[in-house]
Amino acid sequence: MTLHLGDDAPNFQASTTQGVINFYNFLGDSWGLLLSHPADYTPVCTTELGRTAQLSSEFKKRNVKAIAVSVDGIDDHYLWVKDINEVKETEVDFPLIADVDRMVSTLYDMIHPNASGTQTVRSVFIIDPKKKIRLTLTYPASTGRNFNEILRVIDSLQLTDNYKVATPADWNRGDDVIISNAILTEDALKLFPKGVEEVKPYLRYTPQPDLEK
Ligand code: BEZ
Repeated sequence: MTLHLGDDAPNFQASTTQGVINFYNFLGDSWGLLLSHPADYTPVCTTELGRTAQLSSEFKKRNVKAIAVSVDGIDDHYLWVKDINEVKETEVDFPLIADVDRMVSTLYDMIHPNASGTQTVRSVFIIDPKKKIRLTLTYPASTGRNFNEILRVIDSLQLTDNYKVATPADWNRGDDVIISNAILTEDALKLFPKGVEEVKPYLRYTPQPDLEK
């Protein structure tokens, strides 16, 4: 099944390193970050899961729960998590799904047969508290993901859900943002008291509205 932005994230029940999980119950009112990993005991995946664990407080700050999936079994997952904790000097505090029957991988279209018939690609799904899919990314197995980019997109989604703005290319938290074209400039001045910079009538910037300064 091809999943598109705005679709409901499919629910599932799966065996994980934190017991059997119902995905929706696990997420509760949080945002979700679902990551697929080609296989246990692989070097790139080891660095990625370690990085996810190291960023635990950043995800918590943003009300995001991470969960990872790999098609290997639960016993391997437990042993591999020990390795990850050791190698990356961290504590994997999120569940790792043992997707031996490929139920979750199939549901989320994480196996791309022309890349590999057995392993998942590196998929990223960001899911909002209404269980809607808000971002999909697909990386090849040989390229580890950029977790700063994942945090950046979460920041952008959470900001643009709350204010009538969009974020420009290479935006990072604290940078100016773009005012929605649905807003007239005279209204923009009231909505964004920190200031409106009009570069073109269709390209107007304002300082990030949810920050103190
Ligand atoms: C890795 O995670 O290191 C990896 C997995 C599959 C193919 C290539 C690299």
